[in-house]
Amino acid sequence: SKPAVKVTVTGAAGQIGYALLFRIASGQLLGPDVPVRLSLLEIPPALKAAEGTAMELDDCAFPLLAGIDITDDAKRAFDGVNVAMLVGARPRTKGMERGDLLEANGGIFKPQGEAINAGAADDVRVLVVGNPANTNALIAKAHAPDVPGERFTAMTRLDHNRALSQLAAKLGVAVTDIAKMTIWGNHSATQYPDLFHAEVGGQSAAAAVNDDAWLRDTFIPTVAKRGAAIIEARGASSAASAANAAVDHVHDWVNGTDWTSMAVVSDGSYGVPEGLISSFPVRCADGKWEIVQGLEIDDFSREKIDASVAELTEERDAVRGLGLI
Ligand code: NAI
Repeated sequence: SKPAVKVTVTGAAGQIGYALLFRIASGQLLGPDVPVRLSLLEIPPALKAAEGTAMELDDCAFPLLAGIDITDDAKRAFDGVNVAMLVGARPRTKGMERGDLLEANGGIFKPQGEAINAGAADDVRVLVVGNPANTNALIAKAHAPDVPGERFTAMTRLDHNRALSQLAAKLGVAVTDIAKMTIWGNHSATQYPDLFHAEVGGQSAAAAVNDDAWLRDTFIPTVAKRGAAIIEARGASSAASAANAAVDHVHDWVNGTDWTSMAVVSDGSYGVPEGLISSFPVRCADGKWEIVQGLEIDDFSREKIDASVAELTEERDAVRGLGLI
């Protein structure tokens, strides 16, 4: 059989971790013929809970699960890692300013970037889920100078999947009838879910909707604020859907896709300043992503993309000011 792939999950004892680890161990991340070794990174107070989750993973007797390691040491967790899923982060608590939030997360993503730089496998791929995801990815990347920059990505796939679901419901079509959906910008309320390049049955999705007010005043805010709506309804933030999106993101990066949304390092495409980690339409082949080129951006989309990118620029400047990058 194939050699086992080492997958490291940080924040493994959290609620996304609980929804994610079983999907990975069952083979849904990399494919039904790829054994995985799981490495769970947690902070000391959560190690016992991580051990409990590992006991349950054992109890599934997953044929593809080649081993589980649990640690609070980032160096050990990322030693030889092939796929790093950085889920654990410091949430914003009441009264916390953005600077405090960025600083607290810098304290997590800087050492993790350093540990990835020191020990990761040559083919390492990094997905940052923990918020603020784009900027946390930027911090980790800045501290891993020996790892190619394109290996650091952040997750906007949950937003992408939410957009697919909202559009399918509006038009009464299957999600599989929709192609070329794109989330642009930051994984935040400023993100821009784009229906002008999306297609339904080969036709423009915006034209199929034919309802500018819905697109502007319902669709975009519903997708952008869906996380808050889930908290309101469930009393807890999105977990299973976030884990599902993380599986989709890595699966498609490794196995290929014609079109999806990923936050990746900008090369200046579409006027997004070089070096920012911003969401784009991407296609993946041979384990590599590339930004879909040549799309025409109208004034409405331009304004939305620019607003979200401006927020990313501010976050980058703030972490620069704090000496985190
Ligand atoms: P949670 O609070 O249930 O779990 C987070 C876990 O991370 C905790 O077990 C905590 O002990 C651990 N942790 C904290 N610092 C750590 C460190 N330095 N190293 C390793 N582990 C550490 O949170 P949940 O619901 O699992 O969410 C995790 C993150 O994902 C949050 O930042 C959340 O905002 C983000 N998120 C991102 C989404 C996206 O679309 N990009 C969607 C949903 C959530």
